[in-house]
Amino acid sequence: MRGVAISLYDRTDDVEIYGFENGYKGMIYGHYHLMNKADFEPILDKGGTILGSSREPFKLLGEPGDNGENKVESMVQTFEKLELDCLVVLGGNGSHKTANLLMERGMNVVTLPKTIDNDIYGTDMTFGFQSAVGVAARDLRCIQTTAESHSRIFIVEIMGHKTGWLTLHAGIAGGADVILLPEFPYEVSKVVEKIHENEKNGKNYSIIAVAEGAYSSEYAELPKKERKAKLENGVTAAYRLASEIRSQLPEKDIRIQIPGHTQRGGEPCPYDCILASRLGAAAADYILHKQFGVMAGLVNGRIIPVPLNEVAGKLKTIPQDDQLVQQAKVLGICIGR
Ligand code: F6P
Repeated sequence: MRGVAISLYDRTDDVEIYGFENGYKGMIYGHYHLMNKADFEPILDKGGTILGSSREPFKLLGEPGDNGENKVESMVQTFEKLELDCLVVLGGNGSHKTANLLMERGMNVVTLPKTIDNDIYGTDMTFGFQSAVGVAARDLRCIQTTAESHSRIFIVEIMGHKTGWLTLHAGIAGGADVILLPEFPYEVSKVVEKIHENEKNGKNYSIIAVAEGAYSSEYAELPKKERKAKLENGVTAAYRLASEIRSQLPEKDIRIQIPGHTQRGGEPCPYDCILASRLGAAAADYILHKQFGVMAGLVNGRIIPVPLNEVAGKLKTIPQDDQLVQQAKVLGICIGR
């Protein structure tokens, strides 16, 4: 937000910026206010958001709003009423789908990829991700001393229902022995093997990083619908894994740690401040050049405009031949296969 605004204020006197409160909800219900440069100056390293955020799921846009309104029509009307030249959207996959829909409804839209999941297609990195990696990695490291003291197995559940980027990066940075990802269904026997291997090497504890969306090869064999229902109605990934390990190692002392939303809180790390600023500056450039319908994306180290209709509705998952996964294995980390 700051990157876009500061760049625009800096480059033209002819700019008026309205902030929508709580994301798309602000557009639907007409909650917005005029902002100025001073609003944006101090927020470079501030966590959270000065405008608020909310879940306004894409799949529920067709349902009437709180006062019976058509949500999409309301957003179009707000855009037209304020005579906006462009709507700037910062968000994850759902936000991008809605942004694309609004573009199709005739709005000029520019987006920025912001999520801790790093799963947006068309960008190598999203901002928020590296900050969350920092939190989750610290959690994994902190657990090691107590795990060692008590000779325990610790399972740390890391955010990411659909993709395992956060777990993979945090797992490596946090020194995990085992990293389990949604893209790679795991064999419980491989995890048990790694625990035994640690013991053989004189390491009396094991740290397992498991993504929220990870599941065993047994679950992978189920029809998709059945698996989804089982996953949604059962315990979380860490508890499921704990009972799977316990069934093979009943004598082991296993504990679970779920950092949860702390991963989405706190201050942004310097990498994220830089990336968000770069993406914001690029977005301002697109706006000034009337290059709409694009997301500012980081591709091979450069910021480029990526067509929004290529981004929306796609998920960037970890490829089966991902180099970092291969390197994790070379480093002796078990990925459950
Ligand atoms: O979209 C990011 C994400 O943090 C996921 O990794 C996590 O599973 C989910 O959001 C949590 O959502 P909520 O805050 O709605 O519980």
